[in-house]
Amino acid sequence: MPTTSSFPKTRMRRLRRLPVLRRMVRETTLAVSDFIYPIFVTHGRGVRAPVDPMPGINRLSLDYLLDEVEEVAGLGIPAVLLFGIPARKDAEGAEAYDAGGIVQEAIRVIKQAAPDLMVVTDVCLCEYTDHGHCGVLSGGHVDNDRTLELLARMAERQVEAGADVVGPSAMMDGQVGAIREALDGRGFVDTPIMSYSAKYASGFYGPFRDAAGSAPQLGDRSGYQMDPANAAEALREVQADIEEGADVVMVKPALAYLDVVRSVRDAFDHPVAAYNVSGEYAMVKAAAENEWIDGRRVTLEVLTAIKRAGADLIISYHAKEVAGWLREGA
Ligand code: PBG
Repeated sequence: MPTTSSFPKTRMRRLRRLPVLRRMVRETTLAVSDFIYPIFVTHGRGVRAPVDPMPGINRLSLDYLLDEVEEVAGLGIPAVLLFGIPARKDAEGAEAYDAGGIVQEAIRVIKQAAPDLMVVTDVCLCEYTDHGHCGVLSGGHVDNDRTLELLARMAERQVEAGADVVGPSAMMDGQVGAIREALDGRGFVDTPIMSYSAKYASGFYGPFRDAAGSAPQLGDRSGYQMDPANAAEALREVQADIEEGADVVMVKPALAYLDVVRSVRDAFDHPVAAYNVSGEYAMVKAAAENEWIDGRRVTLEVLTAIKRAGADLIISYHAKEVAGWLREGA
């Protein structure tokens, strides 16, 4: 336990008076190297389609993707996370595991334009299925085991195209093991898996589903994503993923789940990622645009809190603006 002898001998304010000293005793600092920037890619040319609830975020065709990744790399952001909007959605999400699928094409473009920018992929079928669920349906429910094979195929296509890290996010049991086995079988033994281990069935994904057109057409995802009321269960999810071979584990969303980030950080030695999701971004942007809050200040506060809770990596739509602010010495 910390020891503090009492007032007036102890004055907590002493260390807060000088800006320079405040900086020196600061326990948590953000660095641009903490961030992964999500990007939505879409078919066509000259497409730069704004995502309404997410000011500053666009769906980009591959020609615009070039400029985007040059900007991201130039800001010193080490990694991007790709999401694809397919040309066609179908029951089995075929474009997800097609060698010519939009994400696979985007990976090739990025690796040409900015070879050192790390490319992380999302391994999940929801953007690709016409019903909007994260796996294939059998008798009206998401078929876990049949989905595993498709997720493994999807990860293989992504890594073949040049992805550096794969991020399974479908919340199918056994997905990490199935993907590890498939990648190893193809000789991709060195490709890390960043698993969305504790992914909650959350209302905070609303704007993302707008962006990707991936809202489930019937029912919701509560049959496979976690119940927001549960914390102990998150440790079991993380444990299972680690046993299956996850290299980085993730908690998602971030802000409403900082207790979970902290307990995962304390219970395991693996790097922990936290996903500052679309709804968290949208809330800050909406309030800032109304001048109800100071957007820059709140953004930095939120992201510092995510890191303080124990996240090593932060996936955030704020990454570009934060990189700029950090450069200015924020
Ligand atoms: C699944 C996936 C989702 C998000 C990331 N990966 C959507 C979902 O589970 O509904 C949401 C991210 C965000 O809200 O920013 N493909």
